[in-house]
Amino acid sequence: FPVTINKQTYMDTMKALHNGLLVSLEGIDGSGKSVLARNLHNALCNYSVILTKEPGGTPLGEKIRAILLGNKDTNMCPKAEFLLFAASRAEHFEKLVIPELKKGSIVISDRMADSSLVYQGYARGLSLDMINLVNTWAMNEITPQLTFYLKIDAQTAFKRIQKRNLPLTGFEKEQSFIQKTIEGFETLFAQKKNIVTLNAQDTPEALTEQALDAVKHYLTLNS
Ligand code: TYD
Repeated sequence: FPVTINKQTYMDTMKALHNGLLVSLEGIDGSGKSVLARNLHNALCNYSVILTKEPGGTPLGEKIRAILLGNKDTNMCPKAEFLLFAASRAEHFEKLVIPELKKGSIVISDRMADSSLVYQGYARGLSLDMINLVNTWAMNEITPQLTFYLKIDAQTAFKRIQKRNLPLTGFEKEQSFIQKTIEGFETLFAQKKNIVTLNAQDTPEALTEQALDAVKHYLTLNS
């Protein structure tokens, strides 16, 4: 990618990084979060940067992920489902996110707490207050300083998911569920600060450049 960081910017931004920087990527399935997360991680390779995801990011988190994404037949109740996502999140923060932030790293996470608010809250109908309370506790009151929201319509996302030729997870199956998650993200992010909305239909290169600019801008403002 033609994205580089010059030396002065690098020196300035290193000052802003003594407490690390937590960045999350959010959006519905098929919005391209994982590709952007990888590309942003590569573009920031001059820094101490780690790429991680939820659910997952730790050995226990990966086991929980396997339970959650293999949950096609068990028909797990929404509360159990949320508590598993929250358990993965707590382990993630304790074992990886907080130690990395303490070292001054940039931590890029493919999904985080906002996904629970959208999927288990807006889409499955659990109490948003309860989800917020448990998330805050699981995350030791730490929240991402920057969240990239990859905005996409349901039809385009569904087509992308089908093209992958992988079996669909329980979360990807129904159009009406996808529509609820879109409305959830829109409602949630209309009320939140530090959200950078990106058009998921831009090219991967353009998305990387916009995300990198936003990270640099954030670090410059806070140095
Ligand atoms: P994701 O890693 O984006 O799926 P994949 O990499 O397989 O495309 O996320 C897995 C699914 O978990 C996704 O459908 C969203 C869902 N999810 C929740 O329902 N709640 C949460 O808190 C999180 C983090 C994810």
